[in-house]
Amino acid sequence: MKLMPYYRSADHAFNLLCGDTFELLPQFNFKFDMIFADPPYFLSNGGISVQSGKVVCVDKGDWDKGMSQEDINTFNYKWLSLCREKLKDNGTIWISGTFHNIFSVANCLTQLGYKILNVVTWAKTNPPPNISCRYFTYSTEFVIWARKSAKVPHYYNYELMKHINSDKQMTDVWRLPAIATWEKSCSKHPTQKPLGLLCRIILASTKPGAWILDPFAGSSTTGIAANLLDRRFLGIEREEEFARISKARREEIEDLKTFNAYRSKIPDVVKAEDNQIDLKMCCESEGVESLPFLSDENESKGR
Ligand SMILES: C[S@@+](CC[C@H](N)C(=O)[O-])C[C@H]1O[C@@H](n2cnc3c(N)ncnc32)[C@H](O)[C@@H]1O
Repeated sequence: MKLMPYYRSADHAFNLLCGDTFELLPQFNFKFDMIFADPPYFLSNGGISVQSGKVVCVDKGDWDKGMSQEDINTFNYKWLSLCREKLKDNGTIWISGTFHNIFSVANCLTQLGYKILNVVTWAKTNPPPNISCRYFTYSTEFVIWARKSAKVPHYYNYELMKHINSDKQMTDVWRLPAIATWEKSCSKHPTQKPLGLLCRIILASTKPGAWILDPFAGSSTTGIAANLLDRRFLGIEREEEFARISKARREEIEDLKTFNAYRSKIPDVVKAEDNQIDLKMCCESEGVESLPFLSDENESKGR
């Protein structure tokens, strides 16, 4: 039986399932070139922070509520295990996190046979202040990059990363801003990632035409970055409210002017275009134009 997408773009390059990732992932057989996951960090415990000059509660939603360390480990082990089955043998996975979840993620990756390649530090150039004045300002997140197997080599676009970094080897510390106002044009997810971060990840580890999976899609930043860079996307998101934002974001870039304007706002994309390095790469998943396990009914309509 085929799965009904919540939304699928007319060119089939953007696909979104609305439902629980633990239930949906076992229901299809398809191997992706790359996975990006921004899972719950489990840090919504009533703390406070500052956003646009205002004191706000850091609670992001029920999906992000704190759990015991044992439950966090079980959760991470389970989804990382399901994702491993959805990766090509030479595929890689990126997982973002903070100290609340990232050590658990790293342990699970190792237990499951993934090989950790890098732990990238995303150093935010514009972090919110720490209003308690009892800690250093929280200004970093981590993104672990791992490959499926210790034995099978992965893809890394070394030359492009070096070009982006002013012809010096790209390091594992990325100084990038948090999301900008133009990225919130279709309303905002409470933990929306910046397109600049996702574009760097995608440019570094995939070729044009690649299939990318995001099992905790939120507002589908991964999918928008993928499509801006001529890659293809399947997202899974449980909350319809966020699936709706994803659909609106994808429809927004149907307009060529907006598509080009967004590309021009992302420095790595501009540099890749200048250099044409990325465009010269051949397409690995050329033959697969659409996901065979998705139903064509309701196409492009969403709900
Ligand atoms: C950290 S957010 C992802 C934000 C996303 N990177 C973005 O840029 O918008 C995690 C998302 O995972 C979703 N989620 C949590 N548990 C889920 C599950 N079991 N199945 C599907 N989605 C889930 C939440 O609703 C939330 O939108």
